[in-house]
Amino acid sequence: MWNTAPTSLAVVIVVGLLGLTAAWPQESAPPRIDEEIAKQEKIFQRRGADVPGGYITNRGLSGYAELLPSGFCDALGRLGSSDRWLDIGAGAGQAILDYHAAQDDAPSDQKCVRPGPKARAVAISIENRETDKWRERAASLGDDRIRYLSGKRLRQYSPDELGNFQIITDVFGGFTYTEDLSGFVERVLRLLEIGGAFYTLVPGVHLEGGDKLGTWYLTELENAAGRPEKVCSWLKKATCVQVICESKSDWKRPTELINIRKVCSDTSVPRMKLVEFAAGYPPDRRFQVEP
Ligand SMILES: C[S@@+](CC[C@H](N)C(=O)[O-])C[C@H]1O[C@@H](n2cnc3c(N)ncnc32)[C@H](O)[C@@H]1O
Repeated sequence: MWNTAPTSLAVVIVVGLLGLTAAWPQESAPPRIDEEIAKQEKIFQRRGADVPGGYITNRGLSGYAELLPSGFCDALGRLGSSDRWLDIGAGAGQAILDYHAAQDDAPSDQKCVRPGPKARAVAISIENRETDKWRERAASLGDDRIRYLSGKRLRQYSPDELGNFQIITDVFGGFTYTEDLSGFVERVLRLLEIGGAFYTLVPGVHLEGGDKLGTWYLTELENAAGRPEKVCSWLKKATCVQVICESKSDWKRPTELINIRKVCSDTSVPRMKLVEFAAGYPPDRRFQVEP
């Protein structure tokens, strides 16, 4: 997961640390957000040999189990046949395929899968990476047990189109790539049933458990006064949620694993605006909490 445009954001960060204002040198103007978003769209749409090595779209369920917060596997294993799982930013949907593997086609890592009926699952991806394997499995399961939706971002679905879910996952998907972080979390919370949980991770952030020197940050948040804010302290200000963060300071990029449980219906998230965006996989982003 290398990002493609680190230099310009480094200038922003240094400028920010020095407390200077609008000090972009003429020769390295800040990336224009709309141009960077257009570049990001092109990264999503790359195919075949053009797909950058770091843009991984086929992690299986064992990859999800390794990357997501510790309660994810048990929670998935407890779902029954009338429950629903949404994977936002599913790529090719391999994690759902592993979960719904046929008996004779079982993935080697069975730890998130219990014998017996499985939950319905929905995979969403901006670009269409649906495979023949997915189409065959969906047809053999029938009854829309697994659905693959593409061509839209999460924010473009109405709540009725998607319905409600007991579990929502996001592994290097919308949470890592969105330009509207607070809107994204608000939408996720609306789609969760009360008692349901969102499992995700975010790489290259200020960790709840403290930072390592020399870290290259990918997602930076600041409060309304312009001071650094940690992603977990921001999320903990949301209403009707319980947030648990597991800081991975020894990973190549310091990463926060995040579990958000919805505990009542009146959810709201402190709004943030995007102040910097540089396309990449993942992109560099800086957000500021709105006063
Ligand atoms: C790097 S791939 C990760 C795929 C998969 N989760 C995996 O780990 O293999 C990023 C995925 O996130 C999707 N994505 C990014 N932003 C999204 C958004 N706002 N709504 C829906 N999907 C999004 C992309 O279309 C793509 O499917």
